[in-house]
Amino acid sequence: MNSISISRSLRRLERLQRLHSTTLSQQYRCFSCSIRNQHETTKPPTSSSQSANYTHFGFETVAENLKQGKVAEVFSSVASSYDTMNDLMSLGIHRLWKDHFVRSLDPGINPILFSAPTSSPSTSSPAASSPSTPQGLNILDIAGGTGDVAFRMLDYASRIHNDSTTRVTVADINPEMLAAGRKRAASSPYSRANRLSFVEANAETLTTVPSSSVDLYTVAFGIRNFTNIPKALDEAYRVLKPGGVFACLEFSKVNNEAFNWAYKRWSFSAIPIIGQLVAGDRDSYQYLVESIERFPDQATFARMIQNAGFELPAKVGELGGGYEDLSGGIACIHKGVKPLEDTK
Ligand SMILES: C[S@@+](CC[C@H](N)C(=O)[O-])C[C@H]1O[C@@H](n2cnc3c(N)ncnc32)[C@H](O)[C@@H]1O
Repeated sequence: MNSISISRSLRRLERLQRLHSTTLSQQYRCFSCSIRNQHETTKPPTSSSQSANYTHFGFETVAENLKQGKVAEVFSSVASSYDTMNDLMSLGIHRLWKDHFVRSLDPGINPILFSAPTSSPSTSSPAASSPSTPQGLNILDIAGGTGDVAFRMLDYASRIHNDSTTRVTVADINPEMLAAGRKRAASSPYSRANRLSFVEANAETLTTVPSSSVDLYTVAFGIRNFTNIPKALDEAYRVLKPGGVFACLEFSKVNNEAFNWAYKRWSFSAIPIIGQLVAGDRDSYQYLVESIERFPDQATFARMIQNAGFELPAKVGELGGGYEDLSGGIACIHKGVKPLEDTK
């Protein structure tokens, strides 16, 4: 999109915002305020804001035990319009990001070309379970929601690798998002072939997933919603096989000042309004924008992945630094490999 169409869109949005401001601005000035009205339970820590029992929910500080319920409210509310809203909010670009994410992971194993996995960890071809059993990969798509990334991975494995055995489990904490995914899956060949399943699970306690059982762990636009990200990273490490790959696609920090200015104006003014007009829910989309703002920058998140025990494809600070910016840093792909020798 060129700068003329960006500024035209911004002007149109400002007009729209003025139209709606009289009815909406008092009621929805910020998501945190409206949620506070609903739940009088939130109070900031008295001494240090680093208190272990508090976390953030968008721009609001909330008790850790409340965040999950609040995030659940958001995604229950947006589930039915989630896919349409994704297209509108990102002008369709989220599809390109997801396509690129999947291509970069190259999921699947060609049954003809299959040979014993190499001993060096790779971020593009996760290790198969055993050299003598040319079965497909076991992929866990965490916070998989409506299955957007899962469908892409299965399409890719089938089309590029002629692989009809790789399977994906979509795990999500929200039953409404999973229901929307199951509905999509019903008209696909994958659920009938037992290659796609949907399970309700919290990324921070994957009790039903055995240790060292997963070849590839993906999480797209989910991790910033977790209450305790280090705990989720520890779980990712536990469930992955040695040599298995952790891959995350998430909103991140724009690295150009002028572009950042335009992007912030778009996200903070347009997205909540589109949410109100299309999904009838401004608050949830206000939260989504605020949560992007609160998520750590690229280098900090790469360090968190490293601290969980993963090897980064490149060291933090080096070119690449274990991550790849998309669209100037609006989104970012992070990867980590579980070492073959578990040193944790
Ligand atoms: C923005 S959606 C992303 C869905 C999908 N991955 C995609 O890219 O379209 C975020 C998802 O994270 C899920 N989620 C939030 N907290 C979670 C948690 N602790 N464990 C598992 N899923 C969670 C939400 O229910 C929601 O479906």
